[in-house]
Formats: sequence, C-alpha cells, structure tokens
Amino acid sequence: MAIWDRALSWPSLLLQVLLLAPCWAGAQCTRWSGKGTTPHLRSIFLGRCGEYIDLLQPQLRDKNCTAMWEAFQLALNKDPCSVLPSDYDRFIDLARHPIPRDKALIWENNQLLVVDYSEKSRRYMPLGDALFGKVVDFMSWCRQENGSGLDYQSCPVLEDCETNAMDSFWRRASTQYAKETSGVIHVMLNGSEPKGAYPAKGFLANYEIPNLQKDKVTRVEIWVMHDIGGPYLESCGEGTVKIMEDKLKEMGLQYRCTNDYLPVKLFMCVDHTTHPDCDFTS
Ligand SMILES: *[C@@H]1O[C@H](CO)[C@@H](O)[C@H](O)[C@H]1NC(C)=O
Ligand SMILES: *[C@@H]1O[C@H](CO)[C@@H](O)[C@H](O)[C@H]1NC(C)=O
Ligand SMILES: *[C@@H]1O[C@H](CO)[C@@H](O)[C@H](O)[C@H]1NC(C)=O
Repeated sequence: MAIWDRALSWPSLLLQVLLLAPCWAGAQCTRWSGKGTTPHLRSIFLGRCGEYIDLLQPQLRDKNCTAMWEAFQLALNKDPCSVLPSDYDRFIDLARHPIPRDKALIWENNQLLVVDYSEKSRRYMPLGDALFGKVVDFMSWCRQENGSGLDYQSCPVLEDCETNAMDSFWRRASTQYAKETSGVIHVMLNGSEPKGAYPAKGFLANYEIPNLQKDKVTRVEIWVMHDIGGPYLESCGEGTVKIMEDKLKEMGLQYRCTNDYLPVKLFMCVDHTTHPDCDFTS
C-alpha cells in the first residue's frame, strides 16, 4: 500500500516541480498583479454582516446577510476582468442604507488614518463602516480566469484591466455611498501625496464628489492633512485641492477648507509625541 502511494505521488511531484520552476528564479508566476481572493471570504463577509446588523447598527436587523452574500456572488460567477459596477446592483439594493446625517467622511490616500479616526462609526461613518463597504473592506476577491472556483493566487487590479471584480465593486459602492449622505460632508485629503491630494483618477473625484446630492448636503468640510514633518505639497486653494473646490462651487455646494484640522492632527500626533510639529506648548 505504502509503496504504491509513493509510486503514484512521484510523477505528480515531478509535475509540480516543473510547473513551479519559473517561480524559483523569482520570476512573475501569478496571472494577475493583485492579491488573490482572501481565504474565508464568505465566512468573514457573513460574520461582519451579522455583527453589523445584530450589534453595531441594530436598526438594520431586518437585512438578510445570506441574501446579500448570494447577490454579491453573482459577480464572482463572471470572468474576473468582465465585472461591471452594475453586476453589484442587486447586492447594493439589499445592503444599502442612509449614512447618518453629518457623519459622512470621504477621503483619498489616507485610508488607515480614516479607519482609526472614524472610530468604527462612533465619530464618523466612512464607506468602510457602512454595511455595504464593511462586509468586504480590506479583502480581495475574483473568480479564476477560465474556471468556476475562486482564484486564491492572484486577482486583477487596474493595471491588469479596468473592469475587474474589485474596482467595479468600489465604483458602485462609492457612488451609492455619496448618494446616501446628508448634512455636513467631511472630506479628508492627503496634502503630502506626490500624485496630488485630489487625483483626477481617484474614487473621490470620479464617484463620490459628483454624486453628492445638492438638496441633502448642507456644506462640505475639507481637511487637508499633511504628514507630521511634511512634506507640505498641497494646501487649501492650491493644485488639485483648488480643482476640487472649483468642482464644489460649480455644483453649487457650500464648502470650507482647513489645513491640518486640529482634532485630526492631535490624533496623528499620538504616534509622534516628541516631534516638534506635535509640540503644542509654545
Ligand atoms: C434570507 O435570504 C435567503 C436567501 O435568499 C432566504 O433563503 C431566507 O429565507 C431569507 N431569510 C429571511 C428571514 O427572510
Ligand atoms: C499621505 O501620502 C504619503 C505619500 O503617499 C504617504 O506616505 C502617507 O502615509 C499618507 N498619509 C496618510 C495619513 O495616510
Ligand atoms: C483563458 O482562456 C483564454 C482564451 O481561450 C486564454 O487566452 C487564456 O490564456 C486562458 N487563461 C488561463 C489562465 O488559462
């Protein structure tokens, strides 16, 4: 018995070695440039969804997490480069909810700061803390290119193809998020980002700002945050921040822009207590 097992396993081992050989030389050996599907995607999705509607936002307890997962999966049945934002319409219809008034926070290039500062929606509710963002936030997903299972090795990102499973999701979700906001809208920008605080190709410029609803929005508060110690590349009224301000004007929205908004700056200083920029005593 044991001998036969071994005899059978040698050819398959040899085959694996041959197939994997190019990877040993450090060459690119995965199909796509992005991370593969997150292991346990389904359990994490369902667990986060259950926690959200049962514990965090019990006013949403009539939502059906299983139905949401089934709707989300429709996109996982498609070729990973042929997923359109509209493939998530059914999921969004089931998961959507209004963002609490004055709690909206949209952003670009400072995700981790936004996650920490919004404090699991106690302070603000960015997309990653809305039910329809939370269930998949920080995860990856895509189907195998010509197969039926999920691809756990790699998934396409923008440089591979535009209509990939994840970008199409975030386009659809950001569009919906903007439409669900009301009252004061907060925008956190990164004034130390070399590619610009308000990049023309970002989600903020393409899906969020354009979808703010004039009749529901009272004003837009822009915070241009610089990293502690700089660089100070763009500030209110400059460069791409000016482009955003002009866009808001054109949309007829009231706005105010603040550089290094103090509450957020104090928050950032928690990690830089000895830096001169964080010395508030003088
Ligand atoms: C939730 O959705 C699933 C799948 O569509 C369905 O089978 C189930 O009956 C629904 N549960 C409730 C409580 O409506
Ligand atoms: C702002 O952008 C810079 C440059 O990309 C980056 O190093 C920094 O971490 C960003 N700041 C925050 C708070 O995310
Ligand atoms: C999938 O099929 C297409 C068309 O037949 C082919 O060009 C491509 O290389 C295949 N991809 C994989 C990963 O097998």
